[in-house]
Amino acid sequence: MLVTGSNRGIGREIVEALATRETHVLAGMRDTSAFERVGGARAREVTPVRIDLSSKGSIEECVAGLGGRRVDVLVNNAGRFAGGLFEEGDVDEYYDLVQVNFAGLVHLTRRLLRPMLEREHGKIVNNASIAGYAHFPGAAVYSGSKAAVVGFSEALRRELAESPVGVLQVVTPGVETSMLAQVRRDYDEHVGDTSKLDGVDPGEWAGKVVDAIESDAEVLNPGGMERLAKLASRGPAALLDTVLGRAFDR
Ligand SMILES: NC(=O)c1ccc[n+]([C@@H]2O[C@H](COP(=O)([O-])OP(=O)(O)OC[C@H]3O[C@@H](n4cnc5c(N)ncnc54)[C@H](OP(=O)(O)O)[C@@H]3O)[C@@H](O)[C@H]2O)c1
Repeated sequence: MLVTGSNRGIGREIVEALATRETHVLAGMRDTSAFERVGGARAREVTPVRIDLSSKGSIEECVAGLGGRRVDVLVNNAGRFAGGLFEEGDVDEYYDLVQVNFAGLVHLTRRLLRPMLEREHGKIVNNASIAGYAHFPGAAVYSGSKAAVVGFSEALRRELAESPVGVLQVVTPGVETSMLAQVRRDYDEHVGDTSKLDGVDPGEWAGKVVDAIESDAEVLNPGGMERLAKLASRGPAALLDTVLGRAFDR
């Protein structure tokens, strides 16, 4: 099992939850020297592996470095956020974000899917976002990148329907990590009350992700308002235009 972006946030919590299972976990991260061992009496050994999703070369090196280690479950979790007015953002940052959130995810999936198909066993887990459905103003590039993850996940799930490999799309709501703290900072000027952006506990969400992997679910949906937002996103655009338009002040 390989989890990207696992040095902190949701990825780290997924690794901690998986470490108590009967599986060997590879913790993908940019800087393996900062890897902190997973504690607890029931935790199994977790192996850190270096991967920078913004670099094609790093993704290839990571896959080559796996050697004989099987990856039966790939958790594409790593991601980055950029918020604020689109025209004020940094173009290099936009390239990097799209690379990490989408192109790198596609690249790594391409490399690891074929061996799964050959072994007739495997699962691809993609961490999308509620922003991939309800496209937030002030997060245009992030929303676009996550909509791409949603489209990729749905198309690939249908493409693999008759195969032994499954696809799980994780529609992540607001989760209390450093990313949500960045969302609050970037939204500060544009959204009246950022306390409404309260997130769920990362350990709780990671537990749901692991349950969804183990129960062979195809989609893990958020609850509460985010569930309603996802439903609304499949209806007339005017609905979300009104709700998100009210929340956002340019
Ligand atoms: N938190 C939320 O509210 C929320 C909501 C919807 C979706 N999500 C999604 O959930 C996933 C995890 O986010 P999080 O909340 O746990 O955020 P986080 O705490 O900011 O963690 C992001 C992770 O992605 C890694 N990452 C960033 N750029 C990378 C790169 N170039 N190569 C490899 N890894 C890279 C980070 O590693 P470094 O430490 O090296 O930067 C870190 O491990 C993301 O895909 C995010 O879009 C989060």
